Amino acid sequence: MGTLSDSIAKRYDGLSKADCCLSCGGAFPLAEIRSGDVCVDLGCGKGLDLLRMATLAGPKGFAYGVDISTGMMETAWQNAKKLNLENVDFVRSELENIQLEDDLANVVISNCTINHSLDQAKVWQEVGRILKKGGHFVVSDIYSIKPVPAQYRSNPDMVAECWAGAEVKEKYLQNLIDAGFEKIEILEESRPYQKGKIEVASFTIKGIKK
Ligand SMILES: C[S@@+](CC[C@H](N)C(=O)[O-])C[C@H]1O[C@@H](n2cnc3c(N)ncnc32)[C@H](O)[C@@H]1O
Repeated sequence: MGTLSDSIAKRYDGLSKADCCLSCGGAFPLAEIRSGDVCVDLGCGKGLDLLRMATLAGPKGFAYGVDISTGMMETAWQNAKKLNLENVDFVRSELENIQLEDDLANVVISNCTINHSLDQAKVWQEVGRILKKGGHFVVSDIYSIKPVPAQYRSNPDMVAECWAGAEVKEKYLQNLIDAGFEKIEILEESRPYQKGKIEVASFTIKGIKK
C-alpha cells in the first residue's frame, strides 16, 4: 500500500482522460463570481468549474486550479488553451499545504475533494489563509452519517475513492469555525445515501473569512 497522496494521484491520473463526471455537488453556480475576482478551485480536476470562474472573473480577475493529479492538470491546461483563457494557472499541490500565497483570493470553491483529506482541519486552515478578509468559500462535499471505522480510514484506496476520509457533520462544521469563518450556511443538503461501505450525505456550504 502506498501513501494516501500516491493513491489519490494514481486514481485521478487514471480518470483524467475519461469522459465522466466526478463531482458530488454544485459549488460553482452558488459562488457568485464577480468581474475582477481572484478565484481558487481546490481539487479542480479537469478544470471545468475553474474555467467558468476565469470567464466570469474576466481579464482583471484570475483563477487558480489546485490539484494533486498531474493527469488532471494536463487535461485542465488543454481545456484552458481551447478557450484561449490567459487568466488561469494550475498549481500541483496537496490541500493540506496549498502552494499559494496568503490573502490572495476573493473566492475559493471546491467540489467533492476535501473528503479525500485525513487532516481536514488543516485544509480549512489553509482555505482561511489564502482567502482575503471578507472573501468567501463555497464548497460541495460529503460528510459521513457515523464516524468512519479506522479500518476504512487507514486504507488509502478507500479514501481515494471519495468516501473513507469523510468526517461527521458536526466535526466538519467545527473545522470551519476553528478556521475562523463566520456566517456559515448550508446552501444544499442531500438525504443520506450509501457510498462505498458507509452512509454519507452531500452538502454545499458557504462561509466568510472574518
Ligand atoms: C472527485 S474529483 C473532483 C474534480 C472536480 N472538482 C469536479 O467537480 O469535477 C477530486 C479531485 O481532487 C483532487 N484531489 C483529491 N485529493 C487531493 C488532495 N489531497 N490534494 C490535492 N488534490 C486532491 C483529485 O486529484 C481530483 O482531481
